[in-house]
Amino acid sequence: MIPLKRRKVTLSETVEQPKQTCKFPHVCVFILERKMGSSRRAFLTRLGRSKGFLITDTYSLSVTHVVSENNSGDEVQTWLEHQTARDVSSSEHLLDITWFTESMEARQPVPVEDRHRLKVSTKQNVNVNTIQMKSYACQRRTPLKHHNSHLTDALELLAENAGYSENEGRSVAFRRAASVLKALPHRVQTMDELKCLPCLGDHSQRVIKEILEDGTSREVESMRQSEQFQAMKALTGIFGVGVRTADRWFREGLRCPSDLIRTGQQLNREQQAGVQYYDELNKPVTKHEADLIGHIVKEGVGAVLPGAEIQLMGGFRRGKELGHDVDFLITHPEEGKEEELMPKIISWLEERDLLLYQKTTRNSYLEKKDAPGRPPNNMDRFERCFSIFKLQRHAETTGSDGVKPSDQSEASNWRAVRVDLVVSPYSQFAFATLGWTGSKLFERELRRWAGQEKHMSLSSHALYDSVQVSNRNTQHPLLILYNCTFMLFIHEKHLGLI
Ligand code: CTP
Ligand code: MN
Ligand code: MN
Repeated sequence: MIPLKRRKVTLSETVEQPKQTCKFPHVCVFILERKMGSSRRAFLTRLGRSKGFLITDTYSLSVTHVVSENNSGDEVQTWLEHQTARDVSSSEHLLDITWFTESMEARQPVPVEDRHRLKVSTKQNVNVNTIQMKSYACQRRTPLKHHNSHLTDALELLAENAGYSENEGRSVAFRRAASVLKALPHRVQTMDELKCLPCLGDHSQRVIKEILEDGTSREVESMRQSEQFQAMKALTGIFGVGVRTADRWFREGLRCPSDLIRTGQQLNREQQAGVQYYDELNKPVTKHEADLIGHIVKEGVGAVLPGAEIQLMGGFRRGKELGHDVDFLITHPEEGKEEELMPKIISWLEERDLLLYQKTTRNSYLEKKDAPGRPPNNMDRFERCFSIFKLQRHAETTGSDGVKPSDQSEASNWRAVRVDLVVSPYSQFAFATLGWTGSKLFERELRRWAGQEKHMSLSSHALYDSVQVSNRNTQHPLLILYNCTFMLFIHEKHLGLI
């Protein structure tokens, strides 16, 4: 396979304005390119910045003044809502260019007057039924913070429960329904608003209706309280225990990890570690802890293979503050240098007593006859390590008052954290990045969309044109480059980062 252009792939490549150049920190301006064009926007941005204004390239929650030219208020509002999937009407000023030019003349932000403001029609819900919701989750922005968590939490609980009975189809259906509601720019008030939305099956609608009418769903609440749900949650919450094993134990009358110890169940090495560190592993990992582990892994990787690069993946790459583990992708710009890297990293970590458990799987991508086609079980074939780190509690991991958080290992000076390490060749790095960023539903939908709509087969290793089956083992280098860029673009769009 031909290596990618040797370029570090970063999430955002916009040049941010240094904070010290801003004279008016309470004003953050976003200039809308729509109908204005990129060169005029760039000119106005430079002009504003030269006068000490904070002008941001990307639209975000910190924007206070949105400036546009030749757009109506409704047009601007619709554009912004599509960017953020949220209701923007009250949070910032939507302004005509006149505010900006007057401010430039005054060399400071002039007070916002009525004549600067764009008129936005008050019938906001008129648009609700005409929202164009794309049917694949990978085609929509799905922000982490959205308006309908009271509904999506319930649907995701149903998804979790369906997963416990190995009903993958039902589980995915509930997750798709939840994902549609996450993409809505407003809080759902009536069932009418859902009429034109995709992926909302009868069961999901029934639950949503119940919650809209009564504030809660009896079905979901009784399921949440049920012995089976709670036991399955507790048992599958053990590292190394899947649904099938948990279900067998449940039918044998076991309900929680201590039941396994009490009855002397046969456990494999992974499950033994899972039971031993159960409480710790079920405590969410913070971004701060993820960063601490990132520093350790970076040091280790740098020591055993200078020049190697590591990137944080999974939920933390998507901007989550908490996670169940920390995921890292490791590569080296020189193709081939990354081979057999994992055992060296593991030795480095073990020598420093930083690992409580590890299981490494070698790269098997080119081993099988059918490679590099789609792996049969959808799992990728990178060299990878599922591990449990022993993370020292430094001063930084204690509370701001210097008191250690109270937990089972209060007495010890470390905590157990699940960490996934993956090594990819540089030529597959973009695909691996995409595949290991998640969410699981996003990955699934992106692959479904690639297959059904684009007749292409996407994995964490490559993208193939399914029509040219005979050509399956050779990707056109231009196609690789184009697709990597395109895929990362889609992903950033989905995350609301561009
Ligand atoms: N993944 C994978 N193969 C695995 C395990 C995970 O390709 N054997 C991918 C998943 O598709 C997901 C990403 O790795 O995109 C991260 O998985 P995971 O850590 O389980 O989930 P997160 O989204 O990071 O959620 P959390 O914050 O709970 O860890
Ligand atoms: Mn993760
Ligand atoms: Mn993981």
